[in-house]
Amino acid sequence: MITFDQILNEIKICLATQADVVQSIDWLVVNRDLNGRVRLIVPESLSGDATKLEKVRCLAAVVSERLRPHAHSTAAALLYDESQEEACKGASAFALEGFGNVWVADRLATEGDWAHIVSESSGAPRVVFFSIKGGVGRSTALAATAWAFAQVGKRVLVLDLDLESPGLSSSLLPKERQPQYGITDWLVEDLVENASSVFQDMRATSALSHDGEIFVVPAHGAQPGEYVAKLARVWMPKIAADGTRQNWPARLRRLIDALEKRMEPDVILIDSRAGIDEVASACVTELGAKLILLFALEGRQTWTGYHILFEHWRRHGVANNIRESLQIVGALLPETGRDDYVSGLQDNAYDLFADTLYDSIPAGEIIGDHFHFEAADAAAPHYPWGLKWHRSFAGLRSLHGRLNDIDAEEVSSIFGPLIRGIANTLGVEKIDV
Ligand SMILES: Nc1ncnc2c1ncn2[C@@H]1O[C@H](COP(=O)(O)OP(=O)(O)OP(=O)(O)O)[C@@H](O)[C@H]1O
Ligand SMILES: [Mg+2]
Repeated sequence: MITFDQILNEIKICLATQADVVQSIDWLVVNRDLNGRVRLIVPESLSGDATKLEKVRCLAAVVSERLRPHAHSTAAALLYDESQEEACKGASAFALEGFGNVWVADRLATEGDWAHIVSESSGAPRVVFFSIKGGVGRSTALAATAWAFAQVGKRVLVLDLDLESPGLSSSLLPKERQPQYGITDWLVEDLVENASSVFQDMRATSALSHDGEIFVVPAHGAQPGEYVAKLARVWMPKIAADGTRQNWPARLRRLIDALEKRMEPDVILIDSRAGIDEVASACVTELGAKLILLFALEGRQTWTGYHILFEHWRRHGVANNIRESLQIVGALLPETGRDDYVSGLQDNAYDLFADTLYDSIPAGEIIGDHFHFEAADAAAPHYPWGLKWHRSFAGLRSLHGRLNDIDAEEVSSIFGPLIRGIANTLGVEKIDV
């Protein structure tokens, strides 16, 4: 009996043994349904060619036998469609490695498939703070970055998209400054064409800003209200009167575009949820980020998690669309044994990129638009920007109180490489840390 992880490999074996049949048709789609059962979809036009059709039926029967229980019965093993595009509609689709005319149409129970990479937005650069594990100092680093950019006169828009465990906004805004609504309210009201009722009152200005401004859009308002009931609806697609469907990441993009138009920020900082999660998928892949910060603690849990994600991007053939936006951040670097710790981090981060997203060419060489950085190249996406653990931030109750009396020197010593790295990437000069 095969299990889920063997499906693609088994299909490759079946198709390879009947390569002449596969090559004789225009396209072939391997449909993997919501329950993980497979059947093949082939062009409708085959019905006019009895000989070829018989061979394709045999192929489908072989696949069905071999993949059981991950296949439909032989009698239901084959479907027909007018085009490959139609056959893949609504699925997370990708080319099956090693075959020029075979696609996998993966039907997922969630919208976030981590493989739909939206190209960089044209407005203010968007920076996403993501980590595979939680509690690594992501939100704190985001707040310090907002502070540093505001110090040099920038207008910073901060979005708390850690919807399932919100907190950034309450640490950036004292209670009396919390707006009435948040992102969750907007997403729910948008479904009933009532978003304009909350749009005016879902942002606040942080008192931390001196020369510039920090606008904070929280996950929820001062009174979270029926938060659980609202959260369970934010993922809903919106179906317009003419039947067109907008999925929730697209709705979120519409919100961010509207906020951007209203507040005209120089930079947008996005606090994502940690882990392989539905909201995180939207933040990392679908908001048009210029820079995606991947916070990492040295250790197996981190690298296993990132490997899963990077391998998914490689398998879906989207490595090229995302790899230039990625940057590893070495989070909470320890006070003792820091050099060894950082060198382990560097090695593992390099292996991760080299195994999955870098091209198979010698490191450091540039061949066309292929790329593969050297392990020691400090400008490479795998080369960690370090962020030090510092006792004054450990177990902090109020980030707002802490940042209120922080100075540039302290920010520089803890968050310097991160903030300067972001500033460089965004082309912001004269950053004061
Ligand atoms: N540089 C630092 N040095 C020491 N402690 C820190 C540092 N940055 C953050 N912390 C502490 O670590 C804890 C987690 O920080 P933070 O909430 O910023 O992490 P996070 O990655 O956003 O977590 P979550 O996944 O829960 O959102 C907090 O108690 C915070 O005060
Ligand atoms: Mg956080």
